[in-house]
Amino acid sequence: MAELILGQVLSYHGDPFVEGPEVVRLERNGGIVMLGGQIVATGTGDAMRKAYPAATVTDYGNHLISPGFIDPHVHYPQTAIIASWGKRLIDWLNTYTFPEEMRFADPEYAAEIAARYFDLTLANGTTTVCSYATIHPESVDAFFTQAQKRGLRAFAGKTCMDRNAPPGLQDTAKTAYDDSKRLLEKWHGVDRLSYVITPRFSPTSTPEQLSALGALWAENQSCLMQTHLSEQTDEIAWAKALFPNARDYLDTYEAHGLLGMGGLYGHAIHLEPREVDRLVEVGASLVHCPTSNSFIGSGLFDMQTMVARGLRVGLATDTGGGSSFSMLRTMAAAYEVAQLRGVSLHPAQLWWLATQGSARALRSEHKIGNIANGMDADLVVVDLASTLAIEQATRRADFIWQSVFPTIMMGDDRAIKAVYIGGNLA
Ligand code: GUN
Ligand code: ZN
Repeated sequence: MAELILGQVLSYHGDPFVEGPEVVRLERNGGIVMLGGQIVATGTGDAMRKAYPAATVTDYGNHLISPGFIDPHVHYPQTAIIASWGKRLIDWLNTYTFPEEMRFADPEYAAEIAARYFDLTLANGTTTVCSYATIHPESVDAFFTQAQKRGLRAFAGKTCMDRNAPPGLQDTAKTAYDDSKRLLEKWHGVDRLSYVITPRFSPTSTPEQLSALGALWAENQSCLMQTHLSEQTDEIAWAKALFPNARDYLDTYEAHGLLGMGGLYGHAIHLEPREVDRLVEVGASLVHCPTSNSFIGSGLFDMQTMVARGLRVGLATDTGGGSSFSMLRTMAAAYEVAQLRGVSLHPAQLWWLATQGSARALRSEHKIGNIANGMDADLVVVDLASTLAIEQATRRADFIWQSVFPTIMMGDDRAIKAVYIGGNLA
């Protein structure tokens, strides 16, 4: 049975960084018809009512109907340690992250946190995430089991580390390869789930482990590969000291088969010119994590250069290094970081980054991140007047995006009125 939802419908007809914000359209009285988990028709509400007279209709009035938010770099096991005080990256990992990740040896705890994590992301309108698990294979099973139960399109992989982490959080080159391969065969392509090969970052892997995972990636080219790159200056110095023959941080991955299309490089703040050139040449994706980069004190991502160079850039929370589960809050942080670099990102660009941009980073833009025929019906319905502070600011709107921008800057889960997963109301 077809379902028609009515509201202010947002859709993309190009890249707002390349072609300008006009390619992001807001159809004031729009309609979306969903059937069999997909979007089958879009247009004006009146036209959709005429074309699908038997469809059940839900009218969201003035609310914005958008592709669901896509968060392409998260650590679901860090849910409970979000907003932990007073440390920078390496100390933060050792003080808060590693002790918490140890707890995921217990499958029951992993299942509890995975369920809590998806409750939080869905409440914030996020319909797809790409997560690091822990080194425990059970933590991957817990994530995918909960995602599958909710019908989500979701990405994740077992985090691999064989040095510079507590003994209880280390695998080896061989077990990292074997466990990742087994999990990949178990989950990749099942329902809407995708396995992602996941070396945490160069400082916690030996060259042997990086090579083993590079080989696994070469054998499974339909998988994405995710890792961290050039997040903090101390981390970069450490990576270079551990890999004395590397030309730069990126080369620690490149030399081991871990640079390529389908590579997702989180943070990527302090890049050298050769690194940017190589990332562009191979068509890699970068992920901007602005709340995390401010919270952990990492630095200001250079969005303008990276998009001008044609890199695919996604926008992510990086929970729990990031300080929010909300992609609205994350868009606000991206705006603020760009302002500090002298660039005012347009609201249309911010929204695009949190949906289509992140879908492109995950190489899934043909399935998610837009409202168009044949796309997955993963949608979020957003109230653009969810608080008094926001509502009174939108009253001044003198251009259409000024009615959206206060929600970007001040909105939270109170703005999320409904979420559709594969056409079903979550
Ligand atoms: N670098 C290596 N591991 C992590 C992590 O868990 N979070 C962040 N923000 N950076 C990392
Ligand atoms: Zn991360």
